[in-house]
Amino acid sequence: MKAIIVNDEAAGAAGLTLTERPEPTAAINDVIVEVHASGWISTELEWPSTWVDRAGRSRAPSIPGHELAGVVSALGYGTTGLSVGQRVFGIADWHRDGTLAEYTAIEARNVAPLPGDLDFAVGASLPISGLTAWQGLFQHGRLQAGQSVLAHGAAGAVGTMVTQLAREAGAYVIGTGRAADREKVLDFGAHEFVDLENDALDDVGPVDLVFDVIGGEIQKTSVARIKPGGSLVSITGVIEARPTDGLVVDFVVEADRSQLAEIARRVQEGRLRTNIGTTTTLDDAVAAFNSGERAKGKTVIRVRP
Ligand SMILES: NC(=O)c1ccc[n+]([C@@H]2O[C@H](COP(=O)([O-])OP(=O)(O)OC[C@H]3O[C@@H](n4cnc5c(N)ncnc54)[C@H](OP(=O)(O)O)[C@@H]3O)[C@@H](O)[C@H]2O)c1
Repeated sequence: MKAIIVNDEAAGAAGLTLTERPEPTAAINDVIVEVHASGWISTELEWPSTWVDRAGRSRAPSIPGHELAGVVSALGYGTTGLSVGQRVFGIADWHRDGTLAEYTAIEARNVAPLPGDLDFAVGASLPISGLTAWQGLFQHGRLQAGQSVLAHGAAGAVGTMVTQLAREAGAYVIGTGRAADREKVLDFGAHEFVDLENDALDDVGPVDLVFDVIGGEIQKTSVARIKPGGSLVSITGVIEARPTDGLVVDFVVEADRSQLAEIARRVQEGRLRTNIGTTTTLDDAVAAFNSGERAKGKTVIRVRP
């Protein structure tokens, strides 16, 4: 099968190569998915899980890409709940070969049915950003109607989901970003916009929840804006500041079938919009990832035309 691999951790995106790989085989409780579309996050090549398995052994050359939408083509031993021919979408295991390939082996519990009226490209754009927003707001941040959210990077893939889900849940949303992001952030439903390049974060809030996708000084300034008993929810991997009276959670998103179904239902009903910035094909993906252009929104790779 055609697949994109990486072999050299130091090479970054320049080390991505389109090549031929053997088709994967299904392990216990796996499905094999014929990938129709894949989602891409440029920071993947910096994640340790791209380079080692769960025991810490090198897994180069590895196939990156962790979001997918496609069709189940085979079932592993013991797999239940899904059938061959079913449309699915979900998140591939961080430590296994991923979705920039014509086929991938994935645990069945990591995918959910993709409704027939949702395009594969839309399906592949939702799992990581949608589930990250959902889990950060509702599981870790325990957001309630009437609370306020400071949503950083609100024009980005995760931030647009945070903004929409928080607003629909009855929260007051203050979205942040670069000056040029103002219109997009307000269009995705933020009540207010803070221009991180020109406005003072100190003038914001206080808020019940800060959803941080940026870190650094922005995180440090933001914690002072959290109300007593509020939360800093971060996905940046490093907590650099803590509220004096509040909860801090830094987490990595997990696949969840029922949450994926909730997200798909909202998209079907027009309550949630995806934020696809760039679309390419598997053949053109290496060039697209090396173009030097900063992706705006989600990058989706159409693996099958
Ligand atoms: N832990 C987890 O489970 C998890 C899950 C998903 C994502 N992540 C991580 O979270 C981060 C965000 O992911 P994403 O997919 O939402 O990325 P994204 O689509 O690039 O969104 C990030 C947004 O923040 C903006 N931004 C970044 N730095 C900024 C700054 N200093 N001032 C103003 N705006 C700034 C970006 O603007 P520009 O594009 O103009 O820079 C962009 O609009 C990534 O590092 C990703 O690896 C973690």
